[in-house]
Amino acid sequence: MFFKKKEKSVQRVLPEHIAIIMDGNGRWAKKRSLPRTAGHAAGSKTFKTIARYCNKIGIKYLTVYAFSTENWKRPQAEVNNIMNILRDYLKDTDSFKDENIRLEFIGDRAPLADDIKELMLKAEADSQGATGLHLNIALNYGGRDEIVHAVREIVKEGIKAEDVTEQIITDRLYTAGQPDPDFIIRPSGEYRLSNYLIWQSAYAEYWFSDILWPDFSPKDLDRALEDFSRRNRRFGGV
Ligand code: FPP
Repeated sequence: MFFKKKEKSVQRVLPEHIAIIMDGNGRWAKKRSLPRTAGHAAGSKTFKTIARYCNKIGIKYLTVYAFSTENWKRPQAEVNNIMNILRDYLKDTDSFKDENIRLEFIGDRAPLADDIKELMLKAEADSQGATGLHLNIALNYGGRDEIVHAVREIVKEGIKAEDVTEQIITDRLYTAGQPDPDFIIRPSGEYRLSNYLIWQSAYAEYWFSDILWPDFSPKDLDRALEDFSRRNRRFGGV
């Protein structure tokens, strides 16, 4: 007689900071013979669902990759489409206010349209007192660009070479004051970091899956979180 081996129960340990690369929107649309814009629209719905879910289950920080420093190479119409999705999201201020989510943008704002920059500042100011999820949207973000930006700050401040420490650099990143991401999720079957949080992710756990971002659901996040709970994090110790 065979008995099913009982799974060892694992105590749920939640990551403090989840970072997600929202990848696979284009392929999701292509599979359905839809334009890529439909993929981004669906991806943005998933983004809202997952942000709400993270807030509900008590995740403290979530960082999503919405637009990279390399994404400007895409056709202008697609860039405009992603920026318009962002505009719509930021104009719907009531929805994230109701949810007690604190919004922050990371990345280089300089090349963004003026109205978007204003909406970003307003959303950040309006949600500053929120005590729920701290949601970072990485927009025109690149990890190398972020480090260059930090080094420029250090030089401008006249900090001496021998005084430069890891903390001095960390404090000049866009994520200054926040804990490093301890869990990085990339769906869509790609196994790359793509210039995402490259300094901050030094000790992160990674989770990859073939699911395309628009199909990613809270159930998938639960599966990922279960895997996270099982991992034994030693930070270089034994
Ligand atoms: C990557 O998939 C996705 C992007 C570059 C855009 C992601 C943006 C959104 C989901 C909208 C975010 C909106 C807000 C409000 C944060 P891809 O297009 O590279 O997919 P593919 O690899 O299948 O082509």
